[in-house]
Amino acid sequence: MTPDDIFRLFAERGHQSYSGEGITQWQHAWQCGQLARQAGAAPALQLAAWLHDLGHLMTGLEGTPTLRGHDDRHEALAAHALAPVFGPAVAQPVALHVQAKRWLVAARTGYREKLSPDSERSLALQGGPMNDAERAGFQRQPFSDDALRLRAWDDAAKRSGWLPPPDAAATLQHLMRQQGG
Ligand SMILES: [Fe+2]
Ligand SMILES: [Fe+2]
Repeated sequence: MTPDDIFRLFAERGHQSYSGEGITQWQHAWQCGQLARQAGAAPALQLAAWLHDLGHLMTGLEGTPTLRGHDDRHEALAAHALAPVFGPAVAQPVALHVQAKRWLVAARTGYREKLSPDSERSLALQGGPMNDAERAGFQRQPFSDDALRLRAWDDAAKRSGWLPPPDAAATLQHLMRQQGG
């Protein structure tokens, strides 16, 4: 997976809707990266934020797969593709961003109530809230803190009408170069 492959995926499929949320995959990626930047995240974590849902583009499943009871395992797919190019500081938060939701649902009161309908649907497919052993296991994983931060931006990056500027692709290009891509 080279930076060119990543741009090709966004060019071909970035217009697809971000499952049931009223924005596109490209808008969601940019918003998430932007929120990471505004929060002062390190460049590697900003890039992870940008690319956390690349797996959705790789499977190319249109529409809202969770409505058909389908979990595309997009986090694992993307992390596998990103790890050799950008290393664990990018790939691990991506790999853990779904587990982070399961952790937050179990550990933070009120978090679940704020999930979007699609996120609530996929939660069941992804294993539901973590039990105590799963939570402890998650917290021992490298970059689990980064994954929790990424998850917060992911949840917030669903604003219709907040649109990427013309230089958004250049920002992504720059981050990928910085991380060795
Ligand atoms: Fe995701
Ligand atoms: Fe996402």
